[in-house]
Amino acid sequence: MKEEKKSSNKPKAAKKAKEELKKVLTFDEKIKDFEHRIKLAELGGGKDRIKKQHEAGKLTARERIDIFLDQGTFVELDKLVTHKCTDFGMEKSKIPGDGVIAGYGKVDGRLVYVFAYDFTVFGGSLSRTNADKIIKVQKLALKNGAPIIGINDSGGARIQEGIGSLGGYADIFYNNTMASGVIPQISAIMGPCAGGAVYSPALTDFIFMVKDKSHMFVTGPDVIKAVTHEDVSKEDLGGAFTHNSKSGVAHFMGENEETTLMMMRELLSFLPSNNMEDAPVKNCEDDTTREDESLNSLIPNDPNKPYDIKELIHSVVDDQYFYEASPHFAANIVTGFAWMGGMSVGIVANQPAVLAGVLDINASIKAARFVRFCDAFNIPLITLQDVPGFLPGTLQEHAGIIRNGAKLVFAYSEATVPKITLITRKSYGGAYCVMSSKHIGADINLAYPSAEIAVMGPEGAVNILYRKADAKEKAKILEDYKARFATPYQAAELGYIDEIIMPKQTRHKLIQALEMTQNKTVNNPPKKHGNIPL
Ligand code: HXC
Repeated sequence: MKEEKKSSNKPKAAKKAKEELKKVLTFDEKIKDFEHRIKLAELGGGKDRIKKQHEAGKLTARERIDIFLDQGTFVELDKLVTHKCTDFGMEKSKIPGDGVIAGYGKVDGRLVYVFAYDFTVFGGSLSRTNADKIIKVQKLALKNGAPIIGINDSGGARIQEGIGSLGGYADIFYNNTMASGVIPQISAIMGPCAGGAVYSPALTDFIFMVKDKSHMFVTGPDVIKAVTHEDVSKEDLGGAFTHNSKSGVAHFMGENEETTLMMMRELLSFLPSNNMEDAPVKNCEDDTTREDESLNSLIPNDPNKPYDIKELIHSVVDDQYFYEASPHFAANIVTGFAWMGGMSVGIVANQPAVLAGVLDINASIKAARFVRFCDAFNIPLITLQDVPGFLPGTLQEHAGIIRNGAKLVFAYSEATVPKITLITRKSYGGAYCVMSSKHIGADINLAYPSAEIAVMGPEGAVNILYRKADAKEKAKILEDYKARFATPYQAAELGYIDEIIMPKQTRHKLIQALEMTQNKTVNNPPKKHGNIPL
């Protein structure tokens, strides 16, 4: 029967072949055909879905890339690839490009790689084809030593493809990990990002989210309700503010997509393209010897009175401009980038205005991660210290302040970039050691005359040493203790502080130290990798 059918098909096949021959296109037709294919790819999921995307208050993947890159610099790769899925009737719906737009372009004239999930195509879900597109740019970025930016807006693994999609995610995670510390990797979340899909952004250096428009969670509100009976909204669970303030998963939050994309461009300006390059240097028109008299009265005489460390930061950096990272998370420590004398620097500062600048678990983790980032990308570190110590309490102890505080010691100790420390006021106990002390490799340690560097605060010390003394005796001993230890002079006598400076000179002194350490070379012992207390 089959043979008969085959032979009866022969004339039909020959006719078809003849028709195919007739279809050979002229050059003009070929151009039209090409243009048609490109148009189809550029339309993604089609006009209706683009309209829906706009109605949801979101830009399309192409619009995002256009805004993010220097105008006219985007070169798209794999624009015409399609998925290979034949289940669930998928073979009938193929869209050229298949839901991820990938390629390279420039930001401020510097090469970057970029990929953006296109929500208009199957909800931006990750097919094997999409994964391969992302992997292609990841590999190119790594080989050519340039940052890679991923813009997420996706329903997760393409359900119709099953394991092919999951494998794609895992391949992407692997490449994220291999690129970590070699090229800057930046993620933007501009829509949903759920399930295992969250782990690619989480493996990158910085995550940007858009206020009220983006969400990240491993399991969504419905699953949570079913498993734990908790009621939680998408926004409370994994919205931009939640991840910027509570979990610390995200580092920046933009008011809208355009500002978020601009913030990402700006972050790149502080970073080298890869770990073999020096940190960027730019022209500085701000006088490097500029003094600020107001700093002489910034630090309150009363050690219990707060002040805003950001006033000091703004005063000393070029053009008073500070690009803060993770401003809403663990605000008792401040991290961010600035220019000093035209040099890109990373700043870590205790914030006496929040929880007296105490070091707790979140502050330790936030600062440790920032220090490691700067070290990986050759960005000198400036540490401003005013810290009463580690936060006491069972909550902190049981949640592992020992392990987490150790992260900060580890990060500072292994960092080989120039490390400059300034103690403005309190520097007590373990926190003295941890916050980039001379002993863990700081190159220059400065202090204000108002610095108090001691094992513990005067009251605590006197209460332990002279427990049985009466109030009058204690008051006398307290004064002696303050005079002897609540100063920078014992540390200066021991050479642990290199120079005591007048606050108004801070900018000049920090820039001098940065210039002096510009060619610093330190090699840690060879190893596979250290074992940071995770
Ligand atoms: C295939 C998908 C899809 C997916 C959405 N779509 N997610 N197609 N695979 N994962 C399709 C929808 O069917 C729809 O197609 C179109 O995209 C737009 O989706 P809507 O639901 O209409 O949009 P919206 O109302 O904005 O809701 C967006 C959403 C929702 C919240 C993302 O679509 C959703 O919950 N999707 C499923 C999310 C999910 O469970 N993904 C799997 C997670 S597990 P039509 O044709 O109807 O317009 C996972 C594992 C990864 O990702 C593990 C990695 C290690």
